[in-house]
Amino acid sequence: MTSTWVEPSDTATALLLLGRGSDPATERGVECPGELPPPSDPDLVARAAVAKAKLGQRVFVLGHHYQRDEVIQFADVTGDSFKLAREAAARPDAEYIVFCGVHFMAESADILTTDAQQVVLPDLAAGCSMADMAALSQVEAAWEVLTDAGVAEMTVPVTYMNSSADIKGFVGRNGGVVCTSSNAKRALTWAFERGQRVLFLPDQHLGRNTAVLEMGFDLDDCVLYDPHKPGGGLTAQQLREAKMILWRGHCSVHGRFTLDSVNEVRMRVPGVNVLVHPECRHEVVTAADRVGSTEYIIKTIEAAPAGSAWAIGTELNLVRRLALAHPDKEIMFLDRAVCYCSTMNRIDLPHLVWALEELVAGRVPNQIAVDPSTARHARTALDQMLALP
Ligand code: 13P
Ligand code: SF4
Repeated sequence: MTSTWVEPSDTATALLLLGRGSDPATERGVECPGELPPPSDPDLVARAAVAKAKLGQRVFVLGHHYQRDEVIQFADVTGDSFKLAREAAARPDAEYIVFCGVHFMAESADILTTDAQQVVLPDLAAGCSMADMAALSQVEAAWEVLTDAGVAEMTVPVTYMNSSADIKGFVGRNGGVVCTSSNAKRALTWAFERGQRVLFLPDQHLGRNTAVLEMGFDLDDCVLYDPHKPGGGLTAQQLREAKMILWRGHCSVHGRFTLDSVNEVRMRVPGVNVLVHPECRHEVVTAADRVGSTEYIIKTIEAAPAGSAWAIGTELNLVRRLALAHPDKEIMFLDRAVCYCSTMNRIDLPHLVWALEELVAGRVPNQIAVDPSTARHARTALDQMLALP
């Protein structure tokens, strides 16, 4: 059997998401400082190939699964956050790491690589709205609240990779660990061997889904810490009784999938398998058939039998690529409306060409360099993640 990919319909925000403007209030950086080639330049693919060939072994290009096809074609390796962190750490010979992903991933790559290596993010405005939901000052204030409630000592901080280097540094200074969507259960198991409760940053959904669906905790064991409310909106007793203190953060892309999307696709496509990322809301993950990181999603589709039907709840670039790569399976997007990650999409071919050509010219554009003290503590928490059993 063959199936055709049906493009989800445009939403009012779709054009903005893919546009070239920037929103300094919500993103990490503002604008690319250089002369970008126009997207209509018919030679962009050839220019990227020539620049990359000139750089040879000196450059290593990493591409997250949510990147556009036009960029992914130049990635030396593609992966989820965990795989890319490991790949960055395993390339001590590459002078330049060009990170086609978002800011927190490039920061982690800088922390995990040697001082002689330079990490480049082709567009500084490629941030992450979830990472922006936990600022260091807010997390330090929360830790004081926990200290006043008498629970900080028995609390282990765990941060999702999708957080700034500052937050990873905080976690490293306080005996915690970084996790990704592919090792969250292992990270929580490690943390509960060392403390009575976990402060989980910044994605409430990954924290709740892992604790309840994989570790056997109850929803009542989890409380939500709102950094915008005094004391997080929680009493000292609630903090003392909690097993999981979840930071009130979420992914604006995965947060779009609802229980209605799951029910609707099950009605429309009998026998469909619903496969979602753990950044989705708890009720969506509970109603799904399978849940896992982007790497897990890819492996699941690769192993699926021909003729099977899959509704996938994750970023659209990845779902579309999977649909095109597996025409013998019926693959659809879980939501009927467009759902790109606007910041991942900021890395486009003009930015990649510009970054590579700058490197060829002997200039290092958009270098991501974490300050040494933050990097040292963040590395402790990242190394702990890489060493998880
Ligand atoms: P991974 O599945 O790569 O952990 O990530 C999902 C994501 O949202 C990356 O920003
Ligand atoms: Fe951040 Fe969500 Fe985009 Fe990932 S998909 S970079 S978590 S906003």
